[in-house]
Formats: sequence, C-alpha cells, structure tokens
Amino acid sequence: MATEKCRILYVDDEPAYCRLFSRSMADDDRFIIRTAAHGEEALSILRTEPHEIVLTDLLMPRMDGLTLLEEVKRLWPEVFVLILTGVDSADKAVKAMKSGAYDYILKPLDIDMIRRQLGKILQHRQLLKETPQPVGDTFRFENMVGKDQVMFELYEKIQQVAQSNATVLITGESGTGKELIAEAIHARSRRRDKPFVRVNCAALTETLINSTLFGHERGAFTGAMARKAGFFEVASGGTIFLDEIGDIPIQTQVALLRVLEMGSFQRVGGTETIKVDVRVICATNQDLSAAVKEKTFREDLYYRINVVSLHGPSLRSRKSDIPLLANFFFEMYRRKSEKRISGISGAAMAMLCEYSWPGNVRQLANVIEHSVIFCQGRQILPDHLPKELHQEPHTDFLLTLHDSSLSSAEATLIRAVLEEHDWHLTQSAEALGVARGTLYSKMERHHIMKPSLFHHRPILNTDI
Ligand SMILES: Nc1ncnc2c1ncn2[C@@H]1O[C@H](COP(=O)(O)OP(=O)(O)OP(=O)(O)O)[C@@H](O)[C@H]1O
Ligand SMILES: [Mg+2]
Repeated sequence: MATEKCRILYVDDEPAYCRLFSRSMADDDRFIIRTAAHGEEALSILRTEPHEIVLTDLLMPRMDGLTLLEEVKRLWPEVFVLILTGVDSADKAVKAMKSGAYDYILKPLDIDMIRRQLGKILQHRQLLKETPQPVGDTFRFENMVGKDQVMFELYEKIQQVAQSNATVLITGESGTGKELIAEAIHARSRRRDKPFVRVNCAALTETLINSTLFGHERGAFTGAMARKAGFFEVASGGTIFLDEIGDIPIQTQVALLRVLEMGSFQRVGGTETIKVDVRVICATNQDLSAAVKEKTFREDLYYRINVVSLHGPSLRSRKSDIPLLANFFFEMYRRKSEKRISGISGAAMAMLCEYSWPGNVRQLANVIEHSVIFCQGRQILPDHLPKELHQEPHTDFLLTLHDSSLSSAEATLIRAVLEEHDWHLTQSAEALGVARGTLYSKMERHHIMKPSLFHHRPILNTDI
C-alpha cells in the first residue's frame, strides 16, 4: 500500500527559488509541492488546502516568514514549519525556533540538506501518528508500552526469563516500569494462574518485615493474637515480588538467603519448617553493589538474587518511544476527563521529546495528566505543559546537528550570533537558547574565537 503523500508549501518572494525548489523536488514522489510568493498568499492557500509542511523564507513583502510561522502555529499547530534564512538574519532564525519552527536551513538553497530535513520530518510524523489504538501486539508487551530497540530486547529477555524459575533482580531508575517488568515475568510464566504478591520492603518497619514475609505464631510478640501466614505462604505456587529490596534490614537478609537456598523458612516465634514453592523477583533503584561494599547489603544474598538481572531503561535512553507513550497516556487521561481534546500539538510534542525526564515514564504520565486538566481548547499546547518542561534549556535545535554540513551551518550561526552580540557569551547563549557552557564547548569544537592579533584562545566578554 502506498503511503499518503506529504504536501509541502514553499514560500519565497523570489520566483527563481520557487521554480528551483519545485523542479528539484519533482522526482521525489513522497511529496506534492506548491509555492507561494509571500505569507499572505501562503495563508490563503493553507485555508483551503491543508499542507503538512511549510518551508518559508524570512524576508518577504506583505507578510514575512516570522509572522507566517506564528499564524500557522496558532491556526494549525500540527504543521511542521521549516525556516530558510540567510546568515545575516541568524537572530531571526533563533526567534523562529522559539516560536515553534521545526528547524532552520541556511541559504543558499541546498536541496540535499532540505531533503534530509524533510526525511526527518516524515519520520517524526510517522511517530506522531502512532496513537494508542494501533498499539498492537508489536508495541505492547503485557502492560508495557514501547517499541524502541531497547524495549524489544527487554521483551525478549522477559520472555526467556519467564520460562525459568531463576531469581531475578530488576534494576533501573525510579519510574522506569520495574513493577511492570515483574508482572510481565509472572504473567508469561507457568505460574500465571497462581498469586503474584508484591511486598514494598521500604514501607515496612524492621519489626514488621519478618512477620509480614514469613508469618508468625500466636503469641510470638505483643499483639500476635493468632497465627498468621506470611506473604511467602500466600504466594505459594506463584511469584513474590520484593520491591525496594535495597531497604531490607540485615536480619531479614539472613532469613531471605535461607529461603532462596533451601526453599524453606520458619514463622516468627515458630519452630516448624515450612517449605514453599515461590519464585522470587526483586527490584531496586539503588546501586546494590555499592551497598555490598558498604556492608549494608550481604554479599551472599546479592549474588543469590542477582542470578538473572534485567534493566528498566530510562526514558532518556529510548526517546523514540516518547510520542507513543505520550499518546497512550493522553488517550487514557482524556477518557477519564471526558474532555473533547483531539490530541497533543506538534509543538507540545516536540517539547516532550526534548525533555530529559528524570522521573521517567511515571513523570511523563503525570505531565500528560496535568496537561489534560489544564487544556482548554482542542489540543494540548506548550502552555498546558507544567513549568519544569519550560525551564529546561531548549537544547535540541543546536545539539542535533551532527553531520558535517549541518555542523558547518551550526558554526556559521554561532559565529553570526556572537558577532552580533559583540562576543558577549551570556547574551549570545541566551539568544541561541542554550546554556552558556554548551555554547562555550561548541565554540571550542568548531574552533570559533574572537578575531584578535594577540590572543590564540577564545576571547570573550563574559560577565564574571
Ligand atoms: N513501558 C511502560 N508502559 C506503560 N506504562 C509504564 C511503562 N513504564 C512505566 N509505566 C508506568 O509508569 C509508572 C511507574 O512505573 P513503575 O511503578 O513500574 O516504576 P518503578 O520502576 O517501579 O519505579 P520506582 O523505582 O519509583 O518504584 C506506573 O504507573 C507504570 O504503569
Ligand atoms: Mg516500583
């Protein structure tokens, strides 16, 4: 089945450029090209004929590129806008990026570079289209959503581990889905019809934890009115999930080691040896090997539970899953709120994709819930996202430029902005929308320095 063609509106007051662009793209059957001579004409075309991409020059009569960009983003936030700019108007390119342009391209027209940018947009669009309904078996593994390479590797490992009875240690930062991994192992194992019992070790006091895990006999301690079964008995035949294992006290570690080695334990205050068939899965977001070195975690227990280890990847390390997850949570919270919001705008999605997500998937879910609550209109816009997403320096537009032609465009832009700001580092970094340190390291990488007869190192007007 042929994929739908993508419509590009090329806006430039120079007819020769319009012709050049149309002609160079004519053989590319992924796109349909139209041209307009200025912003006003572009808007009137867009009103009657939707386009997916707008590629616009900046300086034009009637309506310039920046105004056109702002109008397009206001009326159709999902449209991707690429800006064409001369080196002399680099500051405007920066402004355009801040107003939601997808990227900028330096003039003169370099068709190969434009094609690459357009290819990137097509990929991006593909990701954005993947809403949760089509999340078929390929993107979903039990309750886990994700189709990044690292997730497929994880699914495969879970599938293998589930066939065995080995003790598993799940590591990973907070919010990476460690609990879902444990559930998936159980659900895919032959124990699936038996209990899955989760114990949050961090929530139990030192006195309670042993009796919770192993049960107690009547009169074992004050308040033990009757004999009680512990979670290991409750989980019999199934799986016990010891969450936050790094927090269990040393005396419980000894008892746990015994269960893992002999498959048996005694209730608190009891003498009877109880045998159980329970699969143990542990999880932690601490560095257990460091805890072993510090002697807060027994080394023998560490090796026992670490027979097989699985890692929940951080969201940062699987950025390609952000649109999929964002749409998944969007659908979930939209249904709950019963609001009539159609989706997440391209600009808001771009911000979600660029954020570093220290709280991983849990934080993403919270952010989407927040934005659904604060959304007034048809779409989630950048304004509806919580403030932490606005505070992070907008790094992507400079930092994604890796290949060499883009890298030289980056150097040109940086030099232009520095010159304009009289080589003032803080001001230039601000104009570029990056941290001062980032700008400095980029200057070093591109060997950019202030022209000077006497100095060989970058000379900068800094404010310190
Ligand atoms: N791949 C995923 N797909 C869908 N939802 C996910 C995914 N990963 C995590 N979540 C959701 O994110 C939240 C946090 O997941 P979970 O509790 O499993 O994290 P965790 O790694 O155990 O974190 P912590 O160390 O803080 O306990 C849950 O609501 C979970 O459903
Ligand atoms: Mg957890």
